[in-house]
Amino acid sequence: MAVLAKANQLAAEGRSIIHLEVGQPDFKVAEPIRRAAIKAISAHQTGYSDANGLPALRLKISDYYARYYGLNIDEHRVILTAGASGALALVVALLTDPGDGWLLSDPSYPSNRYFIEAFSGVPQVCNVGPETRFQPSADAIRQAWQPSTRSLLLGSPANPTGTSLQAPALTELAEVVADRQGFLVSDEIYQGLEYGPEARVSALSAHDDAFVVNSFSKYFGMTGWRLGWLIAPDNAIDSLIRLAQNLFICPSLPAQHGAMAAFEPEVMTILERQREILASRRDFMLAELPATGLEVPVAPDGAFYLYARLPEGAPTSDDYCKGLLDVTGVATTPGTDFGSYQAERYLRLSYAQPQAILEDALGRMLKYRL
Ligand SMILES: Cc1ncc(COP(=O)(O)O)c(C=O)c1O
Repeated sequence: MAVLAKANQLAAEGRSIIHLEVGQPDFKVAEPIRRAAIKAISAHQTGYSDANGLPALRLKISDYYARYYGLNIDEHRVILTAGASGALALVVALLTDPGDGWLLSDPSYPSNRYFIEAFSGVPQVCNVGPETRFQPSADAIRQAWQPSTRSLLLGSPANPTGTSLQAPALTELAEVVADRQGFLVSDEIYQGLEYGPEARVSALSAHDDAFVVNSFSKYFGMTGWRLGWLIAPDNAIDSLIRLAQNLFICPSLPAQHGAMAAFEPEVMTILERQREILASRRDFMLAELPATGLEVPVAPDGAFYLYARLPEGAPTSDDYCKGLLDVTGVATTPGTDFGSYQAERYLRLSYAQPQAILEDALGRMLKYRL
């Protein structure tokens, strides 16, 4: 937030700022989605919906899991929410009694820690580094599990590192959690944005009782529409719906009508093309970034971030990011936003910007090095 405030201040002073700190795709929302939402608004479909969302949209999400993941998820297990944030709030509210421990990776998405604390839970971090592609191993989770631990929260593909868990690792992790009668929660908000040869995978493939968080924000490019979803086991659905009614009433109805078009073949073709563009930007950045002195120890296979190590002798990440912004106008996010493990040696940059802007950013960063 400090970098963003500084970037905004410099922009207001007339400086040219490149935003590599932002966590949203630069693509406009696909036209059929926009049209479907406008049609709904014109037809006054703007009231409340059921707390868990439109049945027709839940059915489309169930079909999506069948088509892309080969999974049979009954639509009653899908709860539409205000983004992945709404889904995370619901699942943490449901699974947390005061003092319950939640295992999560350091580094990881910062808000998760605060969700857990807001519901009187205790974040318990498992440090992850390049050796394990910034993902927790089953052994590490076995060791980190404490008597108070109830849940394991995974992110795949992960923010800030862009690395994914594949099916065998997910299965092992699911077993560790099941052996301890814990809950497995997987934040899969960047799913669809995968660049490796591996098939798409969900924690639901490893464990049908997993709680899975997803969103229309990233792959579908609908950040400001505030729509996401949660998949939960059958026996959790009634309680989750009661929580959703009281916390949010329902997710945005115009957004839900827009999202009804999101799974049309025409839209999927557009999204697939965008994924390819992001993949080529990723390759470009991975090839060019080392010349700036920043090293990406693990090539990401998802999302749109690079988690880069600072050069030897560089100041800590907060100071490095501030200096980079001051001197070159390139805004990045210091590793310290995502935790504390080796965080002062890393920064995150997003390549969800047009190629020409990325080239401009790299040119400026090159001069910062000299
Ligand atoms: C890992 C992760 N989870 C959840 C969210 C929240 O996303 P939203 O509420 O827009 O769906 C974000 C946003 O950047 C994220 O990176």
